[in-house]
Amino acid sequence: MPTLSPEELVAHALLARTHAYTPYSHYQVGAALLVADGSVVYGCNVENAAYPSTICAERVALTAAIAQGKYQGQDDYVALAVATRDGGTPCGTCRQVMAELGPRMVVYICDEQGNYRTTSVAALLPDSFDASSLADDQAS
Ligand code: THU
Repeated sequence: MPTLSPEELVAHALLARTHAYTPYSHYQVGAALLVADGSVVYGCNVENAAYPSTICAERVALTAAIAQGKYQGQDDYVALAVATRDGGTPCGTCRQVMAELGPRMVVYICDEQGNYRTTSVAALLPDSFDASSLADDQAS
């Protein structure tokens, strides 16, 4: 069960956003991932002079939690808040990673004032490609 309110998780995402490294786009993104153990893992976008080497805030949080030993399965990821200046939504690559690692997460998308809307991974990425297509009995 979530141990934080949506507003508290959004506040964490806003704080994470202040850590963004964005010398090129100046578009700061923060992410705060609520994990089943009650902890919150931060992510922010980290840009690079070789632009495609940039990594998004959402994927930083989703992968950092694994590195911190907080991921045993899909239900360990409870909620993800994403903060941008204008309530911009996660990119397609991040949606795919969200579907892989936390398909049942609640997602809060907020602007820099903390105004947020609530959505889901399924709503963000319907009919997603997943591991079921790779099952051995499907191989040909
Ligand atoms: N960005 C994210 O961090 N998350 C997204 O889902 C969309 C885009 C970042 C990448 C880049 O640093 C900046 O926003 C502009 O694209």
